[in-house]
Amino acid sequence: MVTTDFMRRLPKAELHLHLEGSLEPEMLMALAKKNKVDIPFQTIDEVRQAYQFTQLQDFLDIYYAGMNVLRTESDFYELTTAYLQQSHKDGVVHVEVFFDPQGHTERGLPFQVAADGIVRALRDGKSKFGITAQLIMCFLRHLPEADALQTFAQAEPYFADGRIVGVGLDSSELGNPPEKFERVFKRARLAGLKTVAHAGEEGPAAYVRNAIELLKIDRIDHGNRALDDPSLIADINRRGLALTVCPLSNLRLRVVDDLQQHPLKRMLEADLCATVNSDDPAYFGGYLLDNFVAVTEALQLTKIHVIQLAKNSITGSFLDDSQKQRHLNEIDRISVL
Ligand code: HPA
Ligand code: ZN
Repeated sequence: MVTTDFMRRLPKAELHLHLEGSLEPEMLMALAKKNKVDIPFQTIDEVRQAYQFTQLQDFLDIYYAGMNVLRTESDFYELTTAYLQQSHKDGVVHVEVFFDPQGHTERGLPFQVAADGIVRALRDGKSKFGITAQLIMCFLRHLPEADALQTFAQAEPYFADGRIVGVGLDSSELGNPPEKFERVFKRARLAGLKTVAHAGEEGPAAYVRNAIELLKIDRIDHGNRALDDPSLIADINRRGLALTVCPLSNLRLRVVDDLQQHPLKRMLEADLCATVNSDDPAYFGGYLLDNFVAVTEALQLTKIHVIQLAKNSITGSFLDDSQKQRHLNEIDRISVL
């Protein structure tokens, strides 16, 4: 039996987290009131009741409506700080978090409002919670590539000093394949940014393959459907690409019927560098430790599996080798206690 306390004490990185998806109903209601934004809910219970999804798009509709209450730099600061505080409680030592700038610029906020609030909170998070952080901006794949290119241009001042380290690709996967974003990903690579993409969450294995071969991504977000193609699994391993897997998200968005069917254990058995992540914890019923606990119980994971998952989160991160080694040593130290 692997205890929750052991999973908490293991140093872990979270590599797949949408900050806007960490907007808890309490904060959503408070910001709606403060910013005088109309929402179709009277109580926190009513908000939670609305969080029932049968597919990704059901969630995305509510997620974009929810982020509409975020209006000022300090709203984004508060949102990000609350996430870091919770992560600290869960034993998270490093985060690589996403935000969706187009979800904010589309409704009239300047790019800087979201970006500056988040960057300031991540910096303060280092001294407040001892958590290191890197920021990745995602392009909304349901919008045209021209919009992504425009967003890229707005973000350029944030690249040189590392305030934004990478680009990703999220939102409605089916019908919006990776190749739609080849040009903007090429530009990101030329600017020295890391690149990641959601692939194989609802889309087929071919989307994972194209994200790797055409977008030349450094890491795969979700990647569940890669398991459908053995030659793709071999290729992912040959390239050493990590997968950021999100068990409770997969359950709530019906990517899996129940957690007992979740592919995480099969991924580990196929030697894939699979990691556990919370995706949109305010909407899917749990933060990082909740995901570890739920998937460990459902798949009867052993201590060896859990240690491997913690190590994968470090090796799959964009930390440099010396930082990785320091965390890996600490995982070893805690594992033998
Ligand atoms: N998938 C795609 N887009 C998203 C997600 C997700 O799980 N969360 C926030 N945007
Ligand atoms: Zn995601």
